[in-house]
Amino acid sequence: MSSILIKNAEIITMNQNEDIVTGDIYITDDRIIEIGQNLSYHAEKVIDATNRTIIPGFVQTHIHLCQTLFRGQADDLELMDWLKQKIWPLEASHDEESSYYSAMLGIGELIQSGTTTVVDMETVNHTDAAFTAIAESGIRALSGKVMMDKGSEVPILLRENTIESIQQSVDLLEKWNGYDQGRIQYAFSPRFVVSCTQDLLTTVRDLSARYNVRVHTHASENVNEIMLVEKEHGMRNVVYLDHIGLANERLILAHCVWLDEEEKRIIKERGIKVSHCPGSNLKLASGVAEVPSLLDSRAFVSLGADGAPCNNNLDMFNEMRLAAIIQKPVHGPTAMDARTVFQMATIGGAKAVGLEDQIGSIETGKKADIAILNLNDFHVYPSFDIDPISRIVYSATRADVESTIINGKVVMENRKLNTVDKGL
Ligand code: GUN
Ligand code: FE
Repeated sequence: MSSILIKNAEIITMNQNEDIVTGDIYITDDRIIEIGQNLSYHAEKVIDATNRTIIPGFVQTHIHLCQTLFRGQADDLELMDWLKQKIWPLEASHDEESSYYSAMLGIGELIQSGTTTVVDMETVNHTDAAFTAIAESGIRALSGKVMMDKGSEVPILLRENTIESIQQSVDLLEKWNGYDQGRIQYAFSPRFVVSCTQDLLTTVRDLSARYNVRVHTHASENVNEIMLVEKEHGMRNVVYLDHIGLANERLILAHCVWLDEEEKRIIKERGIKVSHCPGSNLKLASGVAEVPSLLDSRAFVSLGADGAPCNNNLDMFNEMRLAAIIQKPVHGPTAMDARTVFQMATIGGAKAVGLEDQIGSIETGKKADIAILNLNDFHVYPSFDIDPISRIVYSATRADVESTIINGKVVMENRKLNTVDKGL
């Protein structure tokens, strides 16, 4: 049985009361056993966290680890041109080895910036290699092979028929879903309505119910994409997904920049989980998602960096800050305050993946998924009474993450990656 005692930390718990306490955390195996002052356990490992701030590990709900090696390819293109000219040919060029390293590199960056859970969409081929990287790295993940059984502009190597796409997805699910006591889960990943036949989406609906796993897709990201869907199906993305029966609490929808009132209503009523990707939405000129109104309707909204071509290094600090500041010019200074985006980045993400009783906050009995920050490099007068959450959202950077623990394992300590380095 492994055990860790973390001493003297400022702990941002994100429990129901959002308590911020100073004290110790005792972990055995994968779980938090006790939080309190002056705990006296004989632990295998003791971490002195004096003057350190501990937060729940971030949960990113939309990432493409297969795109990490395509960094710098966002160029000055909008979504559909970018996919056709850059991303799809690049994804087609992946082999098993590049898929593994793309995933491992991305995971290293996630861990270095305090992300402990990720919802990942792979490409058509070599998803098994990405799962291997996820397994070896120790990160908590929901991942799946992308499904795209439609489209004449897709490179030959990415083309697949409906039956193959489904069979390969189910094979991967049977191999990886539940791995390492549930640290890895499968998520069906139809790319977006534009790339998927109705037969495929209907089968995914049934399989997701049968296996009780998430469906992870893109929707209503870009005006041209929405027009393609309307032209073909006579309705908007979310309405179409509802029509097919996919609109339910297991559905994670990335982007949702342009939603009409009916789509918003469906999202709220069906408990759909929206993954907001502000950095990507800006870089691909997709738009600014109306997150405040989604939150007002009590819809579930969490955060994701999308791929490295859109965010560079998959850094949640960047996404949190952007999520907050892009709303301010239109909706005023408090429409998306620091606390709201910090909730989205932690417990909100945990709800999106259905693991709110396991992760997303620091509480007794929960999994030990945490990041230890050293915020002492800030050039602020020490006696200033600073709200720590505001300080993290508006001023912290990935360089302030000193150590990361996932499932009770120290995967980065003093900025040295323990598991990923072996894989790179
Ligand atoms: N829509 C369909 N595929 C993609 C993708 O790879 N990235 C983004 N941002 N949007 C998409
Ligand atoms: Fe994406």
